[in-house]
Amino acid sequence: MALLTLLLAAIGVNAGTTVWSGNFNSYPNSASFDTWSFSNEVGEYQWYIHGTQNTSEYLSLSPSYKNPADSSETNGLKLTVDSTSTWNSQFERTELIPQTSANLGTGNLLYHFSISTGQAGSTNYPVTSIEHQICFFESHFTELKVGVAPNPTHLTWMVTEVDHWDTPWTPGVWYNFAYDIDFTAQTVGLWASNGSAPLVKVVQNVPAATSTNSADWHLGVLRINPTGTEDYFFSGVYIESAPITTSVGTGGGNTTTTTTGTGTTTSSASSTTSKTTTTTTTTTSIGPVQTEFGQCGGTGYTGATTCAAPYTCKAISPPYYYQCL
Ligand SMILES: *[C@@H]1O[C@H](CO)[C@@H](O)[C@H](O)[C@H]1NC(C)=O
Ligand SMILES: *[C@@H]1O[C@H](CO)[C@@H](O)[C@H](O)[C@H]1NC(C)=O
Ligand SMILES: *[C@@H]1O[C@H](CO)[C@@H](O)[C@H](O)[C@H]1NC(C)=O
Repeated sequence: MALLTLLLAAIGVNAGTTVWSGNFNSYPNSASFDTWSFSNEVGEYQWYIHGTQNTSEYLSLSPSYKNPADSSETNGLKLTVDSTSTWNSQFERTELIPQTSANLGTGNLLYHFSISTGQAGSTNYPVTSIEHQICFFESHFTELKVGVAPNPTHLTWMVTEVDHWDTPWTPGVWYNFAYDIDFTAQTVGLWASNGSAPLVKVVQNVPAATSTNSADWHLGVLRINPTGTEDYFFSGVYIESAPITTSVGTGGGNTTTTTTGTGTTTSSASSTTSKTTTTTTTTTSIGPVQTEFGQCGGTGYTGATTCAAPYTCKAISPPYYYQCL
């Protein structure tokens, strides 16, 4: 691997190494997410933050659900949040978590994903007027939101609950992102583009309390208030070490390379993603948890949103105050 890295560096590679792939090619149908459990930690994703119905109510796969620019995946993911989507609280949420033995909280990592809504007026088009937390860490040091100030209808990138960048969330448009997280320097920046355009750095790194236990990045959506059924679409999910792959839809399962000026192109199909195939009976941590009577949500709240068993997060004065009871 060291030799390969040196070789790639020598020919001017502009892409990092995939440390975790969330490529949906490993999930031919929604039932394949059910293979994972706390006692059978297999595949790329942990699937436990969801409502009471069958997985097919919350997750489904289709070629029409991915960014068309994505050539590395057959299908994209449709992720649904509805009135049945409560999990361990009154929040409605559908979220996938990386399943990996890799350290997702070290050095300079790029957290890649593409997200879209349906066309305007399409079935289950999201309501943007209430707060939604999208692709967040349990500590919320960085995340996307909609339904928050200063532009509630915009897709807003936040660092520690402060807006650093936002864009009108245009129906049917694919938005591509990479959170640029330097866990050593304790900073985070943002790369973004739409459609098939290469990612560009739209926010330089700013200080943040960057941390993850490698099992608390939530790919999905949590909404603070109940509303109707909403669909979100995801593709191109992977985490790589810097330097960033700026092209959209080629990363993830493969290490892609681009040469500069030498006239030769080299590519490697190696992936450093390690899949856990052993069966364990340990209980996986689900990130920080709040104790009985502690706050677990509300406007401006940045702490843990998960309650210690057997307590659940109750809306005391929504959207301002939620408490573990
Ligand atoms: C899940 O799917 C099975 C088989 O289709 C069905 O019998 C069952 O009622 C479903 N359960 C729920 C909670 O929807
Ligand atoms: C897509 O990106 C381009 C280039 O940054 C920008 O001009 C345009 O407004 C974006 N479109 C949408 C719908 O966000
Ligand atoms: C990634 O690897 C798969 C399997 O080897 C291959 O089919 C696909 O074309 C590769 N994608 C890219 C972008 O290299």
